[in-house]
Amino acid sequence: MAIRPILEVPDPRLKIVSEPVTVFDDALRTLVADMFDTMYDAPGIGLAAIQIGVPKRVLVIDLQPEDPDAEPVACDHDGHHHHHQPTKREPRVFVNPVILDPAEELATYQEGCLSVPEIYADVDRPATCRVRYQDLDGTVHEEQLDGLMATCIQHEMDHLEGILFIDHLSRLKRQMALKKLQKLRQAA
Ligand code: NI
Repeated sequence: MAIRPILEVPDPRLKIVSEPVTVFDDALRTLVADMFDTMYDAPGIGLAAIQIGVPKRVLVIDLQPEDPDAEPVACDHDGHHHHHQPTKREPRVFVNPVILDPAEELATYQEGCLSVPEIYADVDRPATCRVRYQDLDGTVHEEQLDGLMATCIQHEMDHLEGILFIDHLSRLKRQMALKKLQKLRQAA
């Protein structure tokens, strides 16, 4: 397992349309393990394989990005030791995901992306959807999604088509976002 470099705009590889996974082998497991390592390290709540330069239709999501491996914080202000339990991870893997039945109703979330660091903007997307996907063994599953999970999977699905969340903004807002990113990089 390894943390791999995350591609950032304007890397042209982020515009690649990713290819379906056809072989469910150890190489796929290693890719997914590396994707989780990379996402947790960033930290982020979702990552598409193309964001580490692999044009395969694979997504990882964990809406609980807190680090459960962190040492519990001990506090003994009343003479006893209490441990604040860190958040439990909820790692999800989606191979060859397909979005079905997107709701007409839209939900707005302020989105960000590990490939567009430090930039956040409101994006409207269908509030609920179904996703059909395969797991690491190739077994097909279908699931109804809502809330942040519905938004997150649609954001990650976009990566598989070479689309970034800033592509959903008006041209002016997108240009402002990219200019801000450029300034932040120059200041770094
Ligand atoms: Ni993203």
